[in-house]
Amino acid sequence: MGASQVDPGRVAELKGREDATFVERRPRTMELWKSGQAVMPNGVPMSWLRTSYDHPPLFIESATGSRLRDVDGHEYADFNIADMSMFTGYGPAPVVAAVSRQVAMGSQYLLPTEDSIWVAGELARRYGLPKWQFTLAATSANTEVIRIARSITGREKVLFFEGKYHGHFDDVLVELDDGRLVPEEAGLPHDVTARTLIVPFNDLDALERALAGCEVAVVITEPAPTNNVGLLMPDDSFHAGLREVTRRTGTLLAYDETHTQVVGPGGLTRMWALASDFVTVGKSIAAGIPLGAYGMTEEVAAVLQRPGGRDDDTPQVAVGGTLFGNPLSMAAARAAMSEVLTEEAYAHSQRLGSRLADGIEGIVASAGLDWTTHRFWPRSGLSFCPVLPRTASEAKATLDVPLRRLMRVYLANRGVWEAIIGAGPTCSVAATDEDVDAYVDALGALIAELV
Ligand SMILES: Cc1ncc(COP(=O)(O)O)c(C=O)c1O
Repeated sequence: MGASQVDPGRVAELKGREDATFVERRPRTMELWKSGQAVMPNGVPMSWLRTSYDHPPLFIESATGSRLRDVDGHEYADFNIADMSMFTGYGPAPVVAAVSRQVAMGSQYLLPTEDSIWVAGELARRYGLPKWQFTLAATSANTEVIRIARSITGREKVLFFEGKYHGHFDDVLVELDDGRLVPEEAGLPHDVTARTLIVPFNDLDALERALAGCEVAVVITEPAPTNNVGLLMPDDSFHAGLREVTRRTGTLLAYDETHTQVVGPGGLTRMWALASDFVTVGKSIAAGIPLGAYGMTEEVAAVLQRPGGRDDDTPQVAVGGTLFGNPLSMAAARAAMSEVLTEEAYAHSQRLGSRLADGIEGIVASAGLDWTTHRFWPRSGLSFCPVLPRTASEAKATLDVPLRRLMRVYLANRGVWEAIIGAGPTCSVAATDEDVDAYVDALGALIAELV
């Protein structure tokens, strides 16, 4: 038996059957994939996409609301929502109108528009930090946060929690292997581990020890880790302890709300009244039009102020990019936040998230499985163990990759697009009760075949 108490032989048998069905029903997809391989590594525009799924990549024709359609005419209720970057649903009318208007008027000027003031003001209202800057993605927002923190503190090191994901930049692509820091992937400088510290989430003693030397510029964390580890929830005293020890050691603190922003306007920062020096967001904030953003306190923002413009002789922090915070992204973000990501829309997705969790929990209970159902507002999911793990190591020990892969392809063959491995199904603001029922029915059918 695997960690999940499910027979691995049965998993492999069903996987073989479902993989064959997947390929058989998608001749056009297979044709496109073959053509793609002639001109792109792995046949896809980003080679790593091939490592996200072990079945052939789905080629998409279009998407509307909560539904994806592939080039073979199959429709899917989408619970991956492009790894949470399409939380607004596909093609929300206010965003389509705003983006179309802006493209016609010029998508880029390298000059500010009034929308940027509105968007910064709305993010300030939602997340409680007064000053905002923009990039094209959350990765570059986190990169700039680190540079600002280094510039303020004069320290070079950055601390993350085990199991983290904050984008694809050097400092973060480091992991613990048997207690030793190692590069996570190939192509990184040999000393990439030199400026990064990693400690277990929920371990305030380890954090205290790591920060005691006053060498760390900034701690970056999701308020509740949602990547690679399924879901970790903070212990009751964790965030208060984190804020206290970062303040005491002169370390800055950044909450990365790129995923957790889906719990409500202002993310977990507002929901849990968290205090920090930075907040970063990205993904769905502009309805999938590229935009990353970070908020900061007045004290932090002071380091970016240059009253003398170019003539200021203090060194400028290394931030910026030609297309960052462009008018098209700003128009999309304004429309998304003012008309799509409303209080009512979040309440709708939260209700569906509970309905999804209830359905999953019911299936697991009737099958007599000792699994834990995630309840994370619009998002649910499963940990294959009796209680929710507290750390990434605990979560990794219970991850059953073959079973996860079977779930994906089994659900895909039944019109449900599951979250990527290590994440959980999320109900977008466009999701419906029927979508949730489709997920629960497909999962129920799989569990009935498995147990
Ligand atoms: C918490 C978190 N931060 C940052 C990122 C990076 O986002 P992007 O790839 O859009 O730059 C991700 C992506 O999954 C994320 O989950």
